[in-house]
Amino acid sequence: MKAIGAMGLGVVAIATIVVVAGRGWETAEAFDHGSPAEAVVDARGNLRVPENYLATYQALGSWAIATENGKGSKEIHVVLASTGAIDAYRKDGHFPDGTVLVKEVYSAATSEMTTGTVSRADSLKGWFVMVKGDASRFPGNALWGDGWGWSWFDATNPSKTTSTDYALDCKACHVPAQATEWVYVNGYPVLKR
Ligand code: HEC
Repeated sequence: MKAIGAMGLGVVAIATIVVVAGRGWETAEAFDHGSPAEAVVDARGNLRVPENYLATYQALGSWAIATENGKGSKEIHVVLASTGAIDAYRKDGHFPDGTVLVKEVYSAATSEMTTGTVSRADSLKGWFVMVKGDASRFPGNALWGDGWGWSWFDATNPSKTTSTDYALDCKACHVPAQATEWVYVNGYPVLKR
């Protein structure tokens, strides 16, 4: 009888440790130490544009959005990924937990150059940011869902989003990329090389 009692206590103790550890991970330390998400996501799950991404992130690819009339592009989109995300994706076809993707949105200027009619990035309109992670870490934060945190930032304020709800602001437009974890991977040749 005594032995069974002690075993029972042991099981309760282990269960308690698991619950406590689980809670810590969900709140203050939502991401692993050293994860790129640490510099981008606060304790409540709100995002910001990573401060030094131009020095540390890796180029994923770019998009040119054609003007409706006339020649050239009206916007250029430049997409970057946090360090290590591209290598990891090339190994197993998934972006690891804590991956940060930044899409810079530029209005384009078009002119004749020695190569032809050329559009170039002109003024920065702002950034789209996605952070890979489960929404259950930030209950009640509508910027998280479908395995990512999602936000738009005007060029004037990289630390505060104007997005309110990813399901309204982002999701419908990303449905064509749902099978590839909501990311338009076919625009990024570096993932295939
Ligand atoms: C009008 C449709 C539309 C909306 C709204 C939209 N996206 Fe996108 N997004 C796209 C398309 C299409 C691409 C790839 C081609 C491009 O950039 O034009 C893309 C690319 C991205 C990328 C680069 C990685 C990838 O998926 O290829 C990020 C990051 C991104 N979007 C984040 C967001 C976030 C965050 C929101 C909401 C705040 C959002 N997007 C809203 C259509 C949209």
